Amino acid sequence: MPRTAVAIGLSGSDMSAVFDDLLAAGYEPIHAETPDDLERLLSLRSDIKVAVIDGEVDFDRTLEMYSALHEIGRNVPALLLVPAFTLGRMNLGGRKDSADEYFSRPFTGESLRYRLDALLIRSGTAPVEAPVVVEEVVAAQHVVAAQVQAAVLAPDVADYDVSDEPRQRGRLVIVFNPKGGVGKTTVSINLGAALTIHKKMHVLLVDCDAVTGHVAPSLGMPQLRTLAEAWLWDEQEGIHETVAQIATQHQSGMDILVLAGTPFHTEILVPGRVARAIAEARNSYDFVILDLHPDFGPLNLALFALADRIIVPVTPDVPCIRAAMQFREVATALDLRHRLLMVINRANSGVPTSQVEKTLDIPTLARIRSAGPVFFESSDSGKSAVERYPNDKAIGDMFELTDNLLDILNAGDGRPTQSKGGFLGLFGRRGRG
Ligand SMILES: Nc1ncnc2c1ncn2[C@@H]1O[C@H](COP(=O)(O)OP(=O)(O)O)[C@@H](O)[C@H]1O
Ligand SMILES: [Mg+2]
Repeated sequence: MPRTAVAIGLSGSDMSAVFDDLLAAGYEPIHAETPDDLERLLSLRSDIKVAVIDGEVDFDRTLEMYSALHEIGRNVPALLLVPAFTLGRMNLGGRKDSADEYFSRPFTGESLRYRLDALLIRSGTAPVEAPVVVEEVVAAQHVVAAQVQAAVLAPDVADYDVSDEPRQRGRLVIVFNPKGGVGKTTVSINLGAALTIHKKMHVLLVDCDAVTGHVAPSLGMPQLRTLAEAWLWDEQEGIHETVAQIATQHQSGMDILVLAGTPFHTEILVPGRVARAIAEARNSYDFVILDLHPDFGPLNLALFALADRIIVPVTPDVPCIRAAMQFREVATALDLRHRLLMVINRANSGVPTSQVEKTLDIPTLARIRSAGPVFFESSDSGKSAVERYPNDKAIGDMFELTDNLLDILNAGDGRPTQSKGGFLGLFGRRGRG
């Protein structure tokens, strides 16, 4: 991918302080210290995407540079260095459609790079790799939706009454972002554990990722029986089991279901059938959490429709923000946008959280700070971090996420957040934890 050209209108020493970091981040920083330099550069290179200009020293010079960027036929956004005390009160009276932003000292090459990233995303000039064709996803979803409906309404399910759902069923929350490594599994596991341990809810956590899923090994349960295995067994022996019967209880008390241990077993996992089984599971649990594989395939399309809410973990970096934007578009086309909630993960690094929020315009459920080794150390012990390090600050963020989610769900329909207490207690689920 070609580098993004940036005009740097800073002093020579500021320029050399940021040069290496910008280069390492994929930018082409070009020095243009005076208004004349800048004018010349802009007339030579039409691919300058953004300019950093110094608004601290000479106001006339700043104004000259600013107007060179925004003269007729040109609208290059400016990232303006201003004294800290003017930041927040700035209004340069620039064009309404300009994407200018401000920053102040002290800054580093790295922080400047994140400001540039955010500005380019906001102005829509960030390059996009492998764009998803929204129309294709929508067309696929129509096919899948018909299959799911046929499966859910199939006459052989005597004990399943769709009309019962709104009153009876537990909540279903999906954790999804089409990018890997952003915290989907981490959020799924710890939300599940917090609901189980602190809210006394009966929770099912489903690992729907047959390719890279690692819920079970992270919880010290590498050998558990999968849905695919149970269904293959059913095919051979005619022994039908519900999801609640197939799932395995973790030491925290939360039930775990893995769809498949290997991608070779996924043939039996017909999306409509899986969606029906999970829809039914809502009748046995207070809360069902689905950790999805990052793709827009038929299984995920079948599952999206079941979600009361879809939690989108976002790390504050360009590739992840871009992936979330892409998902937001798909969700809008599928009429699911109103169910999205963002979790800013590793919130204390990278692009400022306010920028992430402004860019994505998805309600923020919680911000989770970087937790160092807390998460992988917990999984080494077969526990969630909620069990292992309940006093860690990042786990405090997880508890806040959990509380906020329950508030949002309850504001929606007024149903209670606590377990159906006596009923579940009677069957001893809680006691076994
Ligand atoms: N807030 C955080 N602080 C520290 N490490 C984290 C944090 N969130 C996620 N991680 C780590 O990042 C890695 C990727 O997270 P994971 O939840 O597996 O992402 P995904 O499921 O989206 O692929 C894991 O090793 C996890 O322990
Ligand atoms: Mg994962």
